[in-house]
Amino acid sequence: MFQFLPCGKNTYYLRCFSNIGVYDLGNGEAILIDSGDHKKSVSDLDKALTERNLRVKMILNTHGHIDHINGNRFFKEKYGCTVYAPSIERYFVEESTLEPSYYYTGIPVNRKRSFFFRPLGTPAELLTPEILPAGFELLSLPGHAFNMVGIKTPDDVWFLADALIDPATYEAYKLPAFRDINESIATAKMLTTLQGAYFVPAHCEATTDISALAAYNAEALEKTKTFFLSLCDNKRFDEIFTAACEQLPLTMDMDKYAKISATVKCYLQALLEDGVIGARIEGFHPVYYRV
Ligand SMILES: [Fe+2]
Repeated sequence: MFQFLPCGKNTYYLRCFSNIGVYDLGNGEAILIDSGDHKKSVSDLDKALTERNLRVKMILNTHGHIDHINGNRFFKEKYGCTVYAPSIERYFVEESTLEPSYYYTGIPVNRKRSFFFRPLGTPAELLTPEILPAGFELLSLPGHAFNMVGIKTPDDVWFLADALIDPATYEAYKLPAFRDINESIATAKMLTTLQGAYFVPAHCEATTDISALAAYNAEALEKTKTFFLSLCDNKRFDEIFTAACEQLPLTMDMDKYAKISATVKCYLQALLEDGVIGARIEGFHPVYYRV
């Protein structure tokens, strides 16, 4: 039997690459918070729901990344449930070319073998407080994606999506994807004081105290910004990128290049926003320098 881990009276999560929230409505129906990743979690979740005689009533997507929405189409076709996603994220859920286009700033190389490839999007409705059953709450979590949200169930359990990464994942990935670094830092700092009974980040264990993990994330992002500041010594992007890859160090493939180069640009943008670096065009390339 696939285990739903309890974290509240009616709230559970399926521990997998991208944790999935399950709220049991008590009438044979369940609400999903995200719907599974690109690995085997969709079939695991399907079996776990079937074993408990639970039908999916609605799916609340925290954001439109492929590792959070991969079960949308399957469960929508199986149960006729409605899929919801917040703001711009809704369009990423509906249109499968947007996420790879964002990372690759164009068409993915070897598109059918890309991590980001998926054949079809899913129609989605706008996720707003008004569509939520009583006792649910949304919390804006800017930084990682365009308009990611956290979702609280009536059991006071917060599902925090990709706002926070645990130290082991940071160590493994070195540069986990955050779109707006300064917003991500502000979100992590905000989460140090978030009140709740239980907290479920997407990529690590659930916990009853989120403050230490949130503080770790704010500090790790600041440290990485400082690292990139040290590389902005009248250097072009490709020189900064190469130095970062060598020093961290990182390994590379086409998908990693797309995601990591986008993330490096986001760090440079944060430093530009802070006013601690400047950029000028030399030849055909921007050159970054400390001010
Ligand atoms: Fe994500």
